[in-house]
Amino acid sequence: MNVPSPMRDDAALSYVRSTEAGKASSKPANSVALEARLKAKPAISVVGLGYVGAVSMACLAHLGFRMVGVDVNHDKVRSIRDGRSPIVEDRLGDLLAEGVREGRIDATQNLIAAVLDTDVTFLSVGTPTSKDGGCDFTYVRQASRAIGQALAMKDGYHVVVLRCSVPPGTTLDVVVPEVETASGKRLGVDFGVCFNPEFLREGVAVADFFAPPKTVVGASDLRAEATVSAIYGTIDERVIFTSIEAAEMVKYVDNVWHATKVAFGNEVGRMCKKLGIDSHDVMNIFVRDLKLNLSPYYLKPGFAFGGSCLPKEVRAVGHIAREIGVSVPLFDSLMETNKVHIDEAIRQLAPFAGKRIGFLGVTFKPGTDDMRESPTLDVMAAMLEQGEKIQAFDPNLDFGPLLQGQIDYVRHAVPRQAKLMDELEALCVADAAALVASSDVVVVSHATDAFRAAVAARAPHVHVLDLARLYKVLPDDATYHGIAW
Ligand SMILES: NC(=O)c1ccc[n+]([C@@H]2O[C@H](COP(=O)([O-])OP(=O)(O)OC[C@H]3O[C@@H](n4cnc5c(N)ncnc54)[C@H](O)[C@@H]3O)[C@@H](O)[C@H]2O)c1
Repeated sequence: MNVPSPMRDDAALSYVRSTEAGKASSKPANSVALEARLKAKPAISVVGLGYVGAVSMACLAHLGFRMVGVDVNHDKVRSIRDGRSPIVEDRLGDLLAEGVREGRIDATQNLIAAVLDTDVTFLSVGTPTSKDGGCDFTYVRQASRAIGQALAMKDGYHVVVLRCSVPPGTTLDVVVPEVETASGKRLGVDFGVCFNPEFLREGVAVADFFAPPKTVVGASDLRAEATVSAIYGTIDERVIFTSIEAAEMVKYVDNVWHATKVAFGNEVGRMCKKLGIDSHDVMNIFVRDLKLNLSPYYLKPGFAFGGSCLPKEVRAVGHIAREIGVSVPLFDSLMETNKVHIDEAIRQLAPFAGKRIGFLGVTFKPGTDDMRESPTLDVMAAMLEQGEKIQAFDPNLDFGPLLQGQIDYVRHAVPRQAKLMDELEALCVADAAALVASSDVVVVSHATDAFRAAVAARAPHVHVLDLARLYKVLPDDATYHGIAW
């Protein structure tokens, strides 16, 4: 969905500029024009005045929104009302003081009054770890119920925006039922919900708010989406709209990725220290590679890694670490997680036992005849072991003396694939169309146009197991199966 974003707001720009100059702006550049636009801005209540809520209050007030903060903690409420920051956070005190001084910030313990007094409610209560290691919804439930009680007394449409980090499904399965039950009102009719994850980093939270790494909104309906996009349009013209569940998942994925990066860097550091190499020399070079290292490359779900380099080098690094007595559990887990992914492809083929299984793509990736440690060979060998009838096509396999060298190598290096190597030439058919025409299920490991065309021309009964993400938009077709989408 594409909702046009409003133009950048002068207040946001003035803040960013003055912050860059090391000085907070207390007055927007063009206060007359801003005042006119203020009238159209929704009033926003913020439930939960912790690190996320207090920063949202202050920054949105600076952008000209009228804000009402709510917390069960009396001290936090009093602090905000007094224009003092309840937490240590650069620039937050200045902005809260400005908001209170200019009459745009108020705070209360009375959640119902705050909701009734506003058009939009941001929910930013804590979501601590529960006893079983999951997410504790206690505060989300309590606050959602209270919002519902307020909406029961309200006539107009209201938007509830969940800002907490929560498991996918929480907005629709926890927040919405609580609000609907307590209010007797209906989602999409009387109120809308959005999930809008918070990406700020403590310590630079205010700067991050005005220059966010991204703004993501998952909305229940277009009206809710338009309301929230209008709020953020002042600081981010390129709001990313997605499903509520994808927005919830993105926040978790982001933090797992950040944690992975920290653990990765630290494993490199421990090894480098033991090897007498400056880890910052190594990682300073590593991070300069924006083409392959810090880029979308290798990050999209697809099939397992393979080839002549990645598995070999992962094993080599693990070996070095053991030799020098350094523990690297993250690196050591890589071959295991790769095997789990190959096993997942085998598992997804289980329903096709006894059927004809055709493999489009045999080498470890398109555009090469390199079969070394190709994960597709693992799947093919497993099918042979299970007695399945398989065949294959790969345009880069030219059975001659050169390929024979590779076949001999694989036979020697992976004894489990010896039988497959013996039979590979006989298992290969002339072209992709012939393979698809004589298979009941086609396993595609190379996302090439030729394979896409062959798959598109398949008979209606032929299933596809896509290991390579052939399509950006997934086919709505019961015979199409993706390994990780
Ligand atoms: N702290 C961060 O850097 C950060 C960044 C991104 C996302 N998040 C997520 O945002 C959410 C809030 O995080 P935080 O660090 O601001 O939490 P926090 O613990 O600092 O603040 C939560 C506030 O909610 C209040 N509260 C609890 N129940 C309430 C209720 N029923 N009504 C009103 N107020 C209530 C608490 O008194 C507290 O002041 C969490 O889900 C967190 O995972 C945090």
